[in-house]
Amino acid sequence: MSRQNKTWPEIEAACRALLSPEDTLLSSLANLSAELFQDLSVRNWVGFYLIHQGRLVLGPFQGKPACVSIPVGKGVCGTSVLEERTVVVPDVHRFPGHIACDSASRSEIVVPLRFQDRVIGVLDIDSPQEDTFDEEDALHLENVVRDLVSRLDFSRLGEFFA
Ligand code: SME
Repeated sequence: MSRQNKTWPEIEAACRALLSPEDTLLSSLANLSAELFQDLSVRNWVGFYLIHQGRLVLGPFQGKPACVSIPVGKGVCGTSVLEERTVVVPDVHRFPGHIACDSASRSEIVVPLRFQDRVIGVLDIDSPQEDTFDEEDALHLENVVRDLVSRLDFSRLGEFFA
């Protein structure tokens, strides 16, 4: 069963088309989470957490209301930041310290956003089915966030938290 409504190259192109340097970070991240939520067929949450004062703070997302703040090193998101790598979790119940924002979530992928050699946030996607995400998804989502960070000015990230 396909877990996407488009091919990965189509998804990457659709995401790129939404990224314009003239747009604000806020609207760009909101549109990107909406695009991915539409394009993936097996998901219950898609969104961004952004680093502020040493914690991950909830950013634009699609899905149920979620945890507002996650310490670096905690949960799947905090682990991705600490270890500076994409984390694929086939079964969230087997991930020590997983933070359950939506009890429907069964598997998860978290991709770090790197800007000027630092991790400044993550893209987090939850699925209501076990074992939804694989290394291919990781590679394509890494392409999506690489495009995001290269096309927008994340040096203005602080304005989010004013
Ligand atoms: N499950 C995440 C928390 C964020 S929600 O999934 C939206 C974690 O363990 O970090």
